[in-house]
Amino acid sequence: MNAGIIGLGKYVPEKVLTNEDLEKVLDTSDEWIRSRTGIQERHIAAADENTSHMAIHAAEQAMKNAGITPDQLGLILVATVSPDRAFPSVSCQINEHFGVQCAAMDISAACSGFIYGLVTAKQFVENNSYEYILVVGVEKLSKITDWEDRNTAVLFGDGACAAIVSKVSEGRGILSYELGADGSGGKHLYLNDNQHIFMNGREVFKFAVRQMGESAVSVLEKAGLQKEDCDFLIPHQANIRIMEAARERLGLPEEKMSKTVHKYGNTSAASIGISLIEELEQGKVKEDDILVLVGFGGGLTWGAVALKW
Ligand code: ACO
Repeated sequence: MNAGIIGLGKYVPEKVLTNEDLEKVLDTSDEWIRSRTGIQERHIAAADENTSHMAIHAAEQAMKNAGITPDQLGLILVATVSPDRAFPSVSCQINEHFGVQCAAMDISAACSGFIYGLVTAKQFVENNSYEYILVVGVEKLSKITDWEDRNTAVLFGDGACAAIVSKVSEGRGILSYELGADGSGGKHLYLNDNQHIFMNGREVFKFAVRQMGESAVSVLEKAGLQKEDCDFLIPHQANIRIMEAARERLGLPEEKMSKTVHKYGNTSAASIGISLIEELEQGKVKEDDILVLVGFGGGLTWGAVALKW
């Protein structure tokens, strides 16, 4: 039996911040942001809208979508680098909200966090430890963004995704995975002493272009598949140019890659799940499709899964 996703949910805050809004407060332009990143707008959480609130909204939807109730959860895994506070974890806050006492822990793998969460959940499901696991990817990056730094302020957005991982029938679900990290690249992307994101964009860009393509190919090979078998690519939505490089490496046509970065910016751990849901809603991802989900992020970390939907 494989583990797979049996329900999904997402949440983005109501407030939209456009490139034009940023033009008014930063030395930047809509043209620069669009051409370098593909981003047009992003959603920003209200001051009193915490990471845990967004996570709970997405989790509620995922459980409803999967047809389960909170008391059926065995484990809650939350991928985030922007929790309400260092502890208690966001996963414990979710646990409290739903009045359950299942195991709960947060995962810190930056933008690769949702993939790390899915792969961790897969192990616990397949060794029969837990029947239903809630995996959340959630970020309130706006609170760790330096709004005076044009190098980073234009890139990020807030949001949440959630998935219920459980057993699915043979041959479906998560077929293979790859996780990795290179701590020597930590200096290129980190939370500085002012509690703001610092990024060496060019170094992260080079790493991401190489790693996204390699990991996407690698998970297909591990699943005994060829590049041609991939029906849809769901890359981490950081920058359209990085995403395009991964798509080209797989030899996929444009319409076979998820693109939501223009609407949400980089929502870090939430981006892959949000994109998967949007593609399902639009009917672009269909039953029996072979999907590759691939991400990279601070750490530096990376992760990918091949799955049969
Ligand atoms: N508006 C206008 N100019 C800008 C802006 C801006 N918002 N930001 C930077 N610039 C300027 C810089 O000051 C620099 O000017 P200089 O050459 O005079 O010093 C110049 O633009 C840099 O231009 P490019 O080299 O063309 O920029 P590049 O093509 O490298 O694009 C970008 C920059 C978009 C940041 C790119 O490097 C990138 O996407 N990197 C990866 C970022 C990423 O994916 N981060 C993931 C974070 S994941 C996580 O874990 C949170």
